[in-house]
Amino acid sequence: MKTVKTVAELQQAISAGKADGGKVGFVPTMGALHEGHLHLVRRCKSENDICVVSVFVNPTQFNNPEDLEKYPRTPDADCRLLESAGCDIVFLPGVEDIYPEPDTRVFDFGTLDKVMEGKMRPGHFNGVAQVVSRLFDLVTPDFSYFGEKDFQQVAIIREMVKQLNIPVQVIQVPIVREESGLAMSSRNMRLTDSEKKDAVAISKALFQSKEDMASYSLKETVDRVIAQINEIDSLDVEYFEIVDSVTLQPVDNWSDSENIVGCITVFCGQVRLIDNIIYK
Ligand code: PAJ
Repeated sequence: MKTVKTVAELQQAISAGKADGGKVGFVPTMGALHEGHLHLVRRCKSENDICVVSVFVNPTQFNNPEDLEKYPRTPDADCRLLESAGCDIVFLPGVEDIYPEPDTRVFDFGTLDKVMEGKMRPGHFNGVAQVVSRLFDLVTPDFSYFGEKDFQQVAIIREMVKQLNIPVQVIQVPIVREESGLAMSSRNMRLTDSEKKDAVAISKALFQSKEDMASYSLKETVDRVIAQINEIDSLDVEYFEIVDSVTLQPVDNWSDSENIVGCITVFCGQVRLIDNIIYK
């Protein structure tokens, strides 16, 4: 595995592999890697000749400076894990490599970023689009891998790729969970042992709601999931929305769309956790 820090080093390493006609796969991350990330990396490696992973905590996607500061940074452990997962090139840029000039671009995602995470974290997806489009420019991947855990993020990336006409195929990878059902996340490191146990109620309520969907209306399902989770003292649901998986707009009835997903954000103590379930 090659570790590169500058754009020049990155491009040299990639062009060497591309010269032989190799396909380039890319996994952008913010580090503090766990099995969820590594699953994307292994999939990327198995489907491409060269697997590139970036580790960069992108300041423009944090609307809260404290959140940016507290974001876990574990570069040495990340590199060890990436090597064992088969990554060929790890890109560890500094802010000056990604943003030699401040990025002032403002994207228009229509209604896609006006709901859920976009509504709760203004500017977040604009920052994600800035960094991912810049990384796509530098890495020029054929395929890029994103986790379904950040469901809205994948929709935004697809829209950005369409708007900017970037020749990359976006691959969406299912959520990787702990044995308990808890969706893996870098933020889980910030949970105490008892919070981690409590947080299992989130996925449990989501799975249960899918099993029961024939017995309850969509609106009843929303209320039941929220009530079931809020029953636990340390948990506080910020939102739970059941939406069309493509437009991300709310649906009122199960029969209103062929593709429906429920997206949730829950505070577990101070830690904000997200999860989702695909109903159909
Ligand atoms: P980060 O949170 O580090 O996540 C990197 C990738 O790993 C994302 O595509 C995310 O959806 C995926 N991922 C995280 N947990 C997962 C899980 N439990 N199962 C499956 N995939 C999972 O998302 C970002 O970074 C940033 O916004 C980024 C796209 C890198 C732009 O800065």
